[in-house]
Amino acid sequence: MRKIVILTGAGISAESGLGTFRDAGGIWTKYPLEDVATPEGFARDPVLVHEFYNARRVQAAAAQPNAAHHALARLQRDWPGEVVIVTQNVDGLHEAGGARGVIHMHGTLAGALCAGCGHRWVAPETMDTTTPCPACTRPSARPDVVWFGEMPYFMDTIFDHLASADLFAAIGTSGQVYPAAGFVQEATASGARTIELNLEPSAVASNFDETRFGPASRVVPDWVSDMLGLRG
Ligand code: OAD
Repeated sequence: MRKIVILTGAGISAESGLGTFRDAGGIWTKYPLEDVATPEGFARDPVLVHEFYNARRVQAAAAQPNAAHHALARLQRDWPGEVVIVTQNVDGLHEAGGARGVIHMHGTLAGALCAGCGHRWVAPETMDTTTPCPACTRPSARPDVVWFGEMPYFMDTIFDHLASADLFAAIGTSGQVYPAAGFVQEATASGARTIELNLEPSAVASNFDETRFGPASRVVPDWVSDMLGLRG
């Protein structure tokens, strides 16, 4: 077994204090996703959408990686093959925990995107409807995050990785949002073994060869130790 492809979701950052989306009290229970996570919502009320992402950017910048983020960075460092991390998370906690080459398929809070010309730049801490694009100067800055109805980033690269994976692991994701929820089937079709690590069974748990349930800060370091042969 050489190549490991890992998909992460909001559950891996939950113990760093960043809310998940669909759990009780999750982000989508407080803010309708149609209002803050769709191009139509942004067109309707850009002030609200900027405020929502400004708050999340500030919160993510203050958050610290937890034991699960650190464990995946360790796996990347010590595994004698390739470890690719694909995340749906828009925080930077994998990188803060030491991971490298993380594929942010849903974009990142650290990025700004011009809704007019498509230029990308490093987001200031807060943006509003007057924030100009440094390339075209129009006040059309938006967060560089993927909204519902938009195509996730790096899909060709991700499917290439899944096609050559020996092991696919999904961590802290509810399995309710496609295309990410379909990665397990893609990996299985390519002959990879599959494992789910989550607080509780996801919507697609039955598609995995193995499942381990519990908080990410416990189950992920344990799994990494097992992978590296560090547990009796
Ligand atoms: P969800 O909120 O849908 O799911 C979070 C998952 O993490 C659930 O299955 C929880 O059981 C699990 N979980 C919660 N706390 C945990 C912990 N301490 N340890 C391990 N697991 C835990 O979040 P995602 O699956 O990431 O997209 O959601 C996928 C996408 O939907 C997001 O990227 C976002 C959202 O709408 C966009 O905004 C485009």
